[in-house]
Order: sequence, then C-alpha cells, then structure tokens
Amino acid sequence: MKTKFEKNILCIGAGYVGGPTMAMIAYKCPQYRVTVVDISHKRIAEWNSDKLPVYEPGLDEIVKSVKGKNLFFSTEIEKGVKDSDIIFVSVNTPTKSFGVGAGMAADLQYWEKTARQILQSAESPKIIVEKSTLPVKTALAMERILTSNNSRIHFEVLSNPEFLAEGTAIQDLENPDRVLIGSNQTENGLKARDVLVEIYKNWVPSDRIITSDIWSSELSKLVANAFLSQRISSINSISALCEKTDADITTVARAVGFDSRIGNKYLNASVGFGGSCFNKDILNLVYLCRHYGLYEVADYWEGVVKINEYQMGRFVLNMLTSMFNTLTGKKISLFGFAFKANTGDTRESPAIFIAKRLVEEKAELVITDPEALQNARIDLKNIDGKVSFIEDPYDAAAGCHAIALVTEWDLYKNLDFEKIYRSMIKPAFIFDGRNILDHNRLFEIGFNIYPIGKPALTHFE
Ligand SMILES: NC(=O)c1ccc[n+]([C@@H]2O[C@H](COP(=O)([O-])OP(=O)(O)OC[C@H]3O[C@@H](n4cnc5c(N)ncnc54)[C@H](O)[C@@H]3O)[C@@H](O)[C@H]2O)c1
Repeated sequence: MKTKFEKNILCIGAGYVGGPTMAMIAYKCPQYRVTVVDISHKRIAEWNSDKLPVYEPGLDEIVKSVKGKNLFFSTEIEKGVKDSDIIFVSVNTPTKSFGVGAGMAADLQYWEKTARQILQSAESPKIIVEKSTLPVKTALAMERILTSNNSRIHFEVLSNPEFLAEGTAIQDLENPDRVLIGSNQTENGLKARDVLVEIYKNWVPSDRIITSDIWSSELSKLVANAFLSQRISSINSISALCEKTDADITTVARAVGFDSRIGNKYLNASVGFGGSCFNKDILNLVYLCRHYGLYEVADYWEGVVKINEYQMGRFVLNMLTSMFNTLTGKKISLFGFAFKANTGDTRESPAIFIAKRLVEEKAELVITDPEALQNARIDLKNIDGKVSFIEDPYDAAAGCHAIALVTEWDLYKNLDFEKIYRSMIKPAFIFDGRNILDHNRLFEIGFNIYPIGKPALTHFE
C-alpha cells in the first residue's frame, strides 16, 4: 500500500485498552497511520460515532482530534493485517469458564484465533506486540502458531503489557510510570524491540522505557496487578478488625502510609476491588504457581481473592444485621455501579455481587450511576427480583430505606443530603462502601451511618 505515513500500525481488539492506547499513539505520532480493528461491528460503529463505547476522561477530545486523520476504526481485519508493519494484539483474555483450569486459568481462545488470523492474512514480515495480559510463555505459543505452516514470513513477537488504569487511562498513557517491552534476546528480537522503543520515545522519556526478556515482561504484569490487589485486601482485612475494636481504618492507614517504605497509595478501605483485571490476573498467577507445584505460593496469592470476596459479603451482612435482620421488601438505592469512579465499566464490579445478594434477601433495588447504567442493565438482566435504574441520585434515593454507596464518584460527595434525607423512609441508613462521605454531618442530618472500618454512627439506643 502506498502511504505518506512512516509506519502502519494495526491494533486487533478495540476495547478499553486497544481504543485508548492507539488513540494516544496516533495523537502523539502524526507520522504513523494507526488502525484499530475488531470482530464486533457494533464496537467499531461506536468508535466511529460521536458516542464512544468507552468512557474515559479526556478520551473524547483525543479521539476527535485524530480520527480520520491518522487513526481509523475498521472491521476489515484481513486488510488491516496485510497493510501493517506492527500489530498490537489487545483482545480479551478472560478467566476460563470451562474444562481444565476453569475459574482460574486465562481463556486464550480469542488470543489463538488472532494468531491464526494474522498467519492467514500476512504477506510480509510483522512485529507482533502482545498488549493483552497473558500467562507467562504465551508469546512462545504465539510464535509457534505463527511459524506452524513453515511460512517464510518472519514474525517477531514482543511483550508490551499495558499498565493503564481505567478512569485515568489518558493520564496514564500520556505520562506512564514505565513502559515495559519484553523481547527475544536474539538479533531479530532486539531489532524489533528497538522499533517499538522508537514509537514510545515520541513522548515517553527513555529512562521510563524498560526492556527485558519476554517471560519477565509477561510475569511483571501479573505481579503488578497481584501487588495492587494485595494492598487493597490487606487494608480491607484490617478494616474488619477495626470494626470489632472501634479503631478507625483511616487513621490506621494514614499512620501506616507515612512510613516511606510502605507509602500512602492504595490504602483506602472499601467494599472490595473489581474490574476485569485484578481477579483474573491473580487467579492466573495462582494457576501458574499450582502448575509448577508451588502450592504454598499459590495459596498465598489466592488469599487476596478470598479476602476480597469476604469483604463484599461482609458489607451485605452488615446491611442485613443493621437493618434489623431483614431486608425483605425494603427499598435500597445503590449509589454507583461502575467498579470504580470515572469509568462506565462494570466488569466484576462489587456492585454486581452486592445487588445479587440483596435481591436474594428480597430487597427492592434502585440503581443509580452517572456512566454505567447501560452496563448495569445488562449485568442484572436475568436477576429474579425488583430492580430499577434511575440516573438522578435524588430520584433514586426517594422512598428508599437505605443508600449503599458502592462507587466513589465525586458527585456523591456534593449532594444535598438534607433533601435526600427528607425524601427517604425513616430510620434512614447510609452504608458508605468507599468512606467518601462526611459521616458526622450526615449523622447530624439524621442518618444512621455505617462506614467501612470505623465505628457506626447511629441514633439507636
Ligand atoms: N481494561 C483494563 O484496564 C486493562 C488494563 C491493562 C491490561 N488489560 C488487558 O488488555 C486486554 C484487553 O482488555 P480490554 O479491557 O480492552 O478488553 P475488551 O473486552 O474491552 O476488548 C477486547 C476486544 O477484542 C475484541 N476481539 C476479541 N477477539 C477478537 C479477534 N479475534 N479479532 C478482533 N477482535 C477481537 C473484542 O470484540 C473486544 O472488543 C486483556 O488481556 C486485559 O487483561 C486490560
């Protein structure tokens, strides 16, 4: 293909990672042509519309400034493969739900299909970049598939895991803590690595671009997510102890976080972690450890997931016991359904678990969220109970017995809670699953307040 561009970059998979990551490359590198392809026609149509399929602060502006200039979204995968020099693969790698490794190992069916698609359509050498999070040694499997029909075309596979966090994706992509590139330590491997380094050097300082062997790069991504979720489970486990002893988790976290060896980030007690990555990546790590006979190591990391499930369960149990041991027929508003603030993503959101458990207790739910109601409707479509979805938080709370705050959206901090209190059934309860509200003030208004890891503030004798 004749082109005025220096490089043709393709990304397979137009999801939460593929879309924003490629938008950033296109934005920072007008000299490259970037195409993002997907099997989902609906997703591609959304990327080509004004209402993008992913909500991320700052994403709309960036996409708008490059779409149709050097960023393109398409369903023509075959053509995309033919025309490109570098192919990022950013397809989903969920936890396997069947067969060997079910509930633990990564489901690599989408990944393998992609490898075969590349092999079928490629007519010239390519650099293949693993962006998806994958178990260690997946690059090797990819390489084997790509060389399986004795093709004379050379494919060089690199590992370049994505560390962005949803909600701050644009900030993270623009100013990453680090970019990690794993390659074969061969002449071809190092050459391919240098091509990818050059791309990132357009905006990332050289000292933040780390290079390594492939396996270390693949493992680093799993370990980073394991460490992050371990911190959340660590503080959440202590929040349970605080509630028993009348200690305050915020004070404990602050005192602990002042230790420069520990640091103060990621120490907010909460209802638990969610998202498409943490659970799946730790379980993947656990599966790998078991596979290699490292049972103690596997059990250690599995504990992080168990504490997370315990924390979500504890939150619901606390609601049940505080509301006089019955939720039957009570109306509860869930404030927030996204797995965290500033995203519409609800994959593995604690809200799903909480909603299901509350409905089992025969509570009636009113879900509100500024960005995630569309996904919430899909997540709860088969639920057997009374659930409604209302965007306005005031309308959502009106006539309810309780509010359960599940997502830390800023907008919930600044609501007129006097107005909300007046509209609710009394005694009115707030369960603050993120500790973001002004508890003393809400107590003064008349609410009974149940934070995480702190003494409850109630008007009961
Ligand atoms: N979401 C995050 O915050 C995040 C962060 C870092 C890494 N990751 C990793 O990145 C990968 C992608 O995650 P995501 O959140 O973007 O997933 P996603 O589900 O949002 O997107 C994946 C896309 O790939 C498409 N796809 C699947 N098979 C395909 C094929 N054969 N050809 C073309 N398209 C295909 C799907 O239709 C989907 O649109 C995962 O491995 C994930 O673990 C995610």
